[in-house]
Amino acid sequence: MKLNIALLAGDGIGPEVIDQAVKVSDAIAKKYNHEISWRPALTGAAAIDEVGEPYPDNTHEICATSDAVLFGAIGHPRFDNDPSAKVRPEQGLLKMRQKLGLFANVRPTFTFPSLIDKSPLKRERIEGTDLIILRELTGGVYFGKRGREDDGNTAYDTMTYTRAEIQRLAKKGFEMAMARGKKLCCVDKANVLESSRLWRETVQAMEKDYPEVEVSYEFVDAVAMRLVQWPKAYDVIITENLFGDILTDEASVISGSMGLMPSASVGSEVSLYEPIHGSYPQAAGKDIANPLATVLSAAMMFEDLGLQQEADDIRRVVNKSLSEGVVTEDLSEGGKSYKTSEVGNWLAENI
Ligand code: IPM
Ligand code: MG
Repeated sequence: MKLNIALLAGDGIGPEVIDQAVKVSDAIAKKYNHEISWRPALTGAAAIDEVGEPYPDNTHEICATSDAVLFGAIGHPRFDNDPSAKVRPEQGLLKMRQKLGLFANVRPTFTFPSLIDKSPLKRERIEGTDLIILRELTGGVYFGKRGREDDGNTAYDTMTYTRAEIQRLAKKGFEMAMARGKKLCCVDKANVLESSRLWRETVQAMEKDYPEVEVSYEFVDAVAMRLVQWPKAYDVIITENLFGDILTDEASVISGSMGLMPSASVGSEVSLYEPIHGSYPQAAGKDIANPLATVLSAAMMFEDLGLQQEADDIRRVVNKSLSEGVVTEDLSEGGKSYKTSEVGNWLAENI
């Protein structure tokens, strides 16, 4: 198969982890006779520095005309500490999600057998966890009206949702549940928020179209607790943008590390694959960041492109690296650790 993949390394550790995903993908392409043409493009602080814009038109053009987008990370501390900054790298990410129509963010949570005892959570609680958080990605408070009142001392952000936005996300959730454990949990704050009441009403009205799916409704604060208490209770969770942002960071503890969690952002056209961790600027350039989340994001990409065996192969070598201890320092617990690039080389060789 001939594949055109847009390659957005971004900021911080982005370029380093992306390099490893490219090595592994190239090894897969060689093994299975595919031809990958990587199409690098600028995003984030790197793009602001070069062209004054975190998601330039040219980058959008490259993404929109590729078969998939592989993305590293975005963000730079220079902007975090400057509340007055007019352009921010994160705006690039939001603009990209919006312009590419990536309304659903698929964030799977599962455990790795060799890491279970390293989790701060007890083995019996987490072993066998297999859930997906489907996060709405182009609506809610991230994109609602925001601003300051004239006096400058009052600020507001608004959480807005339309029925249509909820329906298209929920439809994906129901379909995923049908293909898995047939359980769907709608997470909201319907005891307080009007937008959450619209979520509930909309999802309830869809239940009749999926009679086999067992649907539950839970408040986000309670889910924040239950998710780490009894993650096996969940199959597919659907939720709005900000709740999903928060819950997916929390869920990463179940897997053992943020450095392991891949994601796919999907819409109607091209899909984007990225690790859920951020740009981790403290580690940038040190060759110590964990590349596995990005490598596993590439596996999700191959799977969605219909290349299941290729995806399985990547997951197999990732599991092997974990069980054989070929890992970066975040997972080595003071034992021998490997550099980012060494882990990438090892994975590619083992493909
Ligand atoms: C994520 C990140 C982003 C988000 C940031 C970098 C804007 O935390 O992808 O989860 O909040 O969506
Ligand atoms: Mg986040």
